[in-house]
Order: sequence, then C-alpha cells, then structure tokens
Amino acid sequence: MKKYRIVLSEREIPQAWYNIQPDLPAPLPPPIHPGTGKPIGPQDLAPIFPMELIKQEVSQERWIEIPDEVLRIYKLWRPTPLHRAYSLEKELKTPARIYYKNESVSPAGSHKPNTAVAQAYYNKKEGVRRLVTETGAGQWGSALAFATCLFEMECTVYMVKVSYQQKPYRKSLMRTWKAVVHPSPSNLTNAGRKILEIDPDCPGSLGLAISEAVEDAATHDDAKYALGSVLNHVLLHQTVVGLELKKQLELAGEKPDIIIGCVGGGSNFAGLVFPFVADKLKGQTIELIGAEPASCPTLTRGPYRYDFGDVAKMTPLLKMYTLGHSFIPPAIHAGGLRYHGDAPLLCLLVNKGVIGARAYFQNEVFEAAVTFARTEGILPAPETAHAIKCAIDEARKCRSSGEEKCIVIGFSGHGFFDLGAYEAYLDDKLEDFAYPQHMIEEALKEVPVIEG
Ligand SMILES: Cc1ncc(COP(=O)(O)O)c(C=O)c1O
Repeated sequence: MKKYRIVLSEREIPQAWYNIQPDLPAPLPPPIHPGTGKPIGPQDLAPIFPMELIKQEVSQERWIEIPDEVLRIYKLWRPTPLHRAYSLEKELKTPARIYYKNESVSPAGSHKPNTAVAQAYYNKKEGVRRLVTETGAGQWGSALAFATCLFEMECTVYMVKVSYQQKPYRKSLMRTWKAVVHPSPSNLTNAGRKILEIDPDCPGSLGLAISEAVEDAATHDDAKYALGSVLNHVLLHQTVVGLELKKQLELAGEKPDIIIGCVGGGSNFAGLVFPFVADKLKGQTIELIGAEPASCPTLTRGPYRYDFGDVAKMTPLLKMYTLGHSFIPPAIHAGGLRYHGDAPLLCLLVNKGVIGARAYFQNEVFEAAVTFARTEGILPAPETAHAIKCAIDEARKCRSSGEEKCIVIGFSGHGFFDLGAYEAYLDDKLEDFAYPQHMIEEALKEVPVIEG
C-alpha cells in the first residue's frame, strides 16, 4: 500500500541535538574581535547572549541534551511529518521518488520555533526579561514571539521595512503573541537613524535590522539579543529536523541521493543536512544542495572571507561567503533569504566541497511553488520554493536519464502570509533580478581584509 506520510510518535522526538563541530573536516575559523583582530572569548558575547548559549556556540560535544521543558513545547507540533510527493512525481513524469520534510506545521509556520523555544528557555533560565531580535520575512519574529509568549517574557522585533509593508499580517501574528514590532530602519536606534538620514526610503535589510536589535539589547540591562540563524547554536537546535528525517527515511526503506534546502542564513538547511554530513564524510554518496535567490547569491557568488554580520559593524567578524555587510538586496519576496552572509559552519562545508549551492530567479521559483501547490496542495513559503525549484530540476533530470533517485526537500514553511507575492506572480508582475557584479564588488570594498 502507498504510504503518503511517514510519521513518528511523540516518544521519537530526538532527545539531544547533534553538534557537527567535532566531526568537521577542518577546524572552524573562529569569530574575530574587530578591535583586537584576535578570536573573541565568551565574555565578549556575554552582554548580548546567555552563558548556556555561548557554551553551545563553542561546544565540542557531539550530542547536547534537549531540556525537558523544551521537549514539552516541541510536542505541540513535533515530530513533523515526512511526506511522499506522489502527485508531484506524477505531474513531472519522473522515476525519482520525492519526499518533503514538513516544518510548516509548527505554530509559527516554519522551522524557526525549533531554536526560538530553546533560546527563550535558556534566556528565561538566566533571568532575562526581554528578548530583542530582527526579522526578514517575519517567520523568525513570529517564532520568537510565540516562544517568549509561552515563557512569559517580553519580545521586541525589528522587522525589515519592505517585509513590514509586504506582510502586515505577520505583524498581527507577532502582536497576538504579545511582541512589539518596529519597521527597520527605525528612528529608535543610532544605527537606524544614521541610515534614515542618508536614505529616508531605505527598504531595510536583515543586516541593518540586526544592527538595530543588537544595539537595543546591548543598551538595556534587562534585555538580550536572539538571532534566528547563522550562529552555531541556532544551527544546532535545528538538527532535530535532520535527526527525525533520518529515522523517517529508514522507516520508508530509503537512502537519500539528494537533500535540498533553501538558504537564508543557513539554519534551515544545516538543520536538515548536518546529521547526514558525517555519513557523507565517511564515504556515503549523497548530494546536499543549498538553494538561494539569484538576487542575493551569497554561496554561489560571494567570496569566502571574514566580514561583519551586520551593517553597523557591531557583531564580531565571521568567516563566511559574503556579499559585503553593506549589501542591501533588492526587495524580492523571499524576504527570509535576503542576508549578505551565511552560517560559518555551512560556509566551511561549502568551501570543502561537502555541500553544493544553486541560485534561482523569483519567477522560476514561484512557478515551482505553484506546481507544488497544485499537486501536493500545500502553499509553500517563497523561501521554501527555492528548494522545490531545485528538486523539480533534479527530478526532471531523472526523467531524462531514467535514474530512480530519492530526492528530499526541506519544506521549511508555508506561504499563507505571502499571498501578496503569489498575487503578483499570478498577475505576471514579478521581476527577476540578478545582482550586478560591480555592486557586489563595491560592497566588498568595505569588508576588512583579515588573513585566515
Ligand atoms: C520559510 C523559511 N524558510 C527558510 C528561511 C531561511 O532561513 P535560514 O536563515 O534558516 O536559512 C526562512 C527565513 O526566514 C523562512 O522564513
């Protein structure tokens, strides 16, 4: 009998997160203090993060136990189902077997609560009253608002202005969970005011919203900062996704040939594939592909070098593929993928050739999203649709070659708050935009030169 959904029981939620650091093929270049040029220590991060998360950031333990309180909240939606996309396969006339791991069933609608709940938990435990963050698409802000609400904490969200305007109902969701939401750039911080003076109509960027949120947290004693991607501890928390996926594929009797996820800061994709990286390093044949927008082509066109994580240069320098911290990407609809850098852990693995990357234009991405919605029924987030586009291309290759590959998509979120973008696509009003090389080079001129 055909099995459409492979589900696990509550008891099978992973009890520990997988930390890839001891299994890396080369040492991870450390974050650098911009003032001293030396690696930063835990004390440098203490003003904005709780100590337990700082410890996780540098931990070399392969497994980190998930606290009971976090597991209890995970049970509201985890384990998430793995679906077999029979209807999509039929539409594509492909001999490939396509699966998708569905993180859209979380309360906030994406993978982001996997780390939001953990971060809120550790902050609450260390007496923090308010968490401050940025959000692009609104998915991360919603996830943190949900988590802080459950832990009875306050939450302030700086939302990239273009998304704030494109998605007013994401803001309503965050406010329902008691968060206070500001469009970024705002006049509430020095970083925001500085940009508004130069460009009052600035659409904002994730890098800029990060500057505002870090400044807010660093200048208030009762508040700390929470980041929704990029950092090691965030990627760590997301590994519940890949760990469940591994079990589910075993239950389905499958060995994946290709796993595909979209990449914004890298936590979704890393959470999905890191549990498979160790197998790959031991010699298993498996292709791991990150899908990103052609208008923000970090992994496919950025150089691998140290750069700041934010526009105002408040964060440590991280070694990553980067388009330059001053890069303001065009206002495409996949707001969650508009970040100038990527997670250092992920970048190292791309640099070592363990992980690959592809870039796509938004019209072809929405075409894939609509094909998916018309076959599998679920409306993908524009971010997620990048992975779907890549999977459809791979499945079509199988049709030509006759190969019966097993392809897995990380279905990172639903698109119910992105209907404005779908409307624009269906009305033929979406524009494609490849970022011009000279503008990337221009932004890179401001990136400090650091060896290593
Ligand atoms: C639905 C969805 N998928 C993927 C991403 C990219 O996230 P990450 O930073 O984890 O790569 C986002 C970011 O907001 C998102 O909203």
